[in-house]
Amino acid sequence: DKGNYRHFMEKEIYEQPEVVSHTLANYLDFANSKVKEFSLPFDFAKLDRLYVSACGTAYLAGLVGKYWIERYARLPVDIDIASEFRYRELPITKNSAALFISQSGETADTLASLRYCRSEGLPIGAIVNVRESTIARESDAVFPTLAGPEIGVASTKAFTCQLSVLAALAVRAAVARGTVDAAQEAQLVRELSEAPGLAHQVLKLASQIERLARDLSQYKHVLYLGRDTNFPLAMEGALKLKEISYIHAEGYAAGELKHGPIALIDEKMPVIVIAPHDRIFEKTVSNMQEVAARGGKIILITDAKGAAESTVDTLATIVVPDVPEIISPIIYALPIQLLAYYTAVFIGTDVDQPRNLAKSVTVE
Ligand code: F6R
Repeated sequence: DKGNYRHFMEKEIYEQPEVVSHTLANYLDFANSKVKEFSLPFDFAKLDRLYVSACGTAYLAGLVGKYWIERYARLPVDIDIASEFRYRELPITKNSAALFISQSGETADTLASLRYCRSEGLPIGAIVNVRESTIARESDAVFPTLAGPEIGVASTKAFTCQLSVLAALAVRAAVARGTVDAAQEAQLVRELSEAPGLAHQVLKLASQIERLARDLSQYKHVLYLGRDTNFPLAMEGALKLKEISYIHAEGYAAGELKHGPIALIDEKMPVIVIAPHDRIFEKTVSNMQEVAARGGKIILITDAKGAAESTVDTLATIVVPDVPEIISPIIYALPIQLLAYYTAVFIGTDVDQPRNLAKSVTVE
């Protein structure tokens, strides 16, 4: 039931403060500012490497997870697209484990990757939304996302719930490996507890984003740029836009701009830059200057400090509240989902059932 919403996708975008809250609470003890002692199929302290594999949006959640787990827990993470992982016959390192991410729990390539790791004797964890799925059944431990059923083909709330689980796992790994102390653990858990409230605030930007979507719907090509965890978000923004609006979009690491995509820049291809005011903000500003100097139109998604310190003229600036670093990907996911959603609504596509796509990809 869509309730008062026009599409399931819209409803599912708006459910995020609540489902992210439920999901985080499953893994984090907010009252004591600690990560919970949920069961793990391996000991994070003894791992030398974690293999993560998934498809589509779930893969992009995993890519954010890599940045977090490596940053907070100093544990090397190998991340692959499942259709590549299953055939590339990689050498498996000793003392490693595997983690799979899937909303449906039925994706053929992800399942095949899981079975490959099983045959190699790796302990297996899975982040899944559908508890009674094949991937859940074949894993040693399931880390559920409590997103509830996701009906819209384009994944939204499952993505932010996957991020929530990955953030909790990163904190758990960091505690186990001694790379954060009790005070830092408490700080990270407190910061994560702010995610639902901040997500709720970001949803109030919907009408500004809807107006902007009217402009965006006039273009044929869009480029998304970001650094660090905003690089996977840039790819997620592009994926969302292309799958529901059919506008050609690409997501790039901002630093890659001058290695090729800058050749595409002109007034006909807007560039969406995802750049909170973080330690590498200045680097992204210089990428925006390169875009502006070539007549490119910029849509900047940033916070108040970023908006004040960016020296570049933009077509629009979406100002998101200040957020702690660890929850930034969860919060910045919302404006890019809303932008794709409203753009598709203006174009008039079938938002919940885009052409050629299936919700669950059970064949290769
Ligand atoms: C994008 C999207 C797909 C899925 C992918 C994996 O919006 O929905 O890219 O993320 O097909 O599906 P699951 O998570 O079910 O394995």
